[in-house]
Amino acid sequence: MTQDELKALVGRAALQYVVPGELVGVGTGSTVNKFIEALAAMKDRIPGAVSSSVASTERLRAIGIPVFDANEVESLSVYIDGADEIDARGHMIKGGGAALTREKIIAAQSKRFVCIADESKLVDVLGRYPVPVEVIPMAAQRIARQFAAMGGQARLRMKEGAPLLTDNGQQILDVSGLAIRDPLAFESEVNQWPGVVTVGVFAHQKAAVCLLGTAAGVKTMDF
Ligand code: 5RP
Repeated sequence: MTQDELKALVGRAALQYVVPGELVGVGTGSTVNKFIEALAAMKDRIPGAVSSSVASTERLRAIGIPVFDANEVESLSVYIDGADEIDARGHMIKGGGAALTREKIIAAQSKRFVCIADESKLVDVLGRYPVPVEVIPMAAQRIARQFAAMGGQARLRMKEGAPLLTDNGQQILDVSGLAIRDPLAFESEVNQWPGVVTVGVFAHQKAAVCLLGTAAGVKTMDF
């Protein structure tokens, strides 16, 4: 199976976690796009969704699923999203699609994070994929130096020759060269640096379940 087919497989498998009659939290990325396509078949059984990005909101609305502001909702039973890396304990690196801040906000107000990923995303130690960090632009260079002091190389994410701006109007540093053996401690530490909006390590908001697309089918990992 191709990576695209594995993404479609887990996107469909995630439907079993959507609770009829309730709003669903929806993440961002190519795997989530497969989930959104599958969700079209259930659209009459849910009142709508809370979305983590402008891109996912547009896709949801295009298939007729109403999108609610996170402030209108106290809690969600389930949040479905992809990951750039996931370890055997459900800790993740996220933010490859630059939506990490809204993703973490919705994850925090959801009872259950269901991660959908193809098997290439499963790792022993987080960090081979550069860690995305959303930052306030005036702090970007100082934060880059702080990462350098811990052995990381931070690069400002660019788009069409200019720094990429997130849906929140901020910038992204992609930090390579880190082996994150204690994701909870790493997330707590970086969160405290002035100018950091969100670090793309999801340890405090880790997955409860991962639906991993493999050549043998969907493997369910409970954490
Ligand atoms: C977006 C994300 C995505 O979930 C992550 O980048 C995985 O994307 P894809 O499903 O396209 O591989 O965190 O900010």
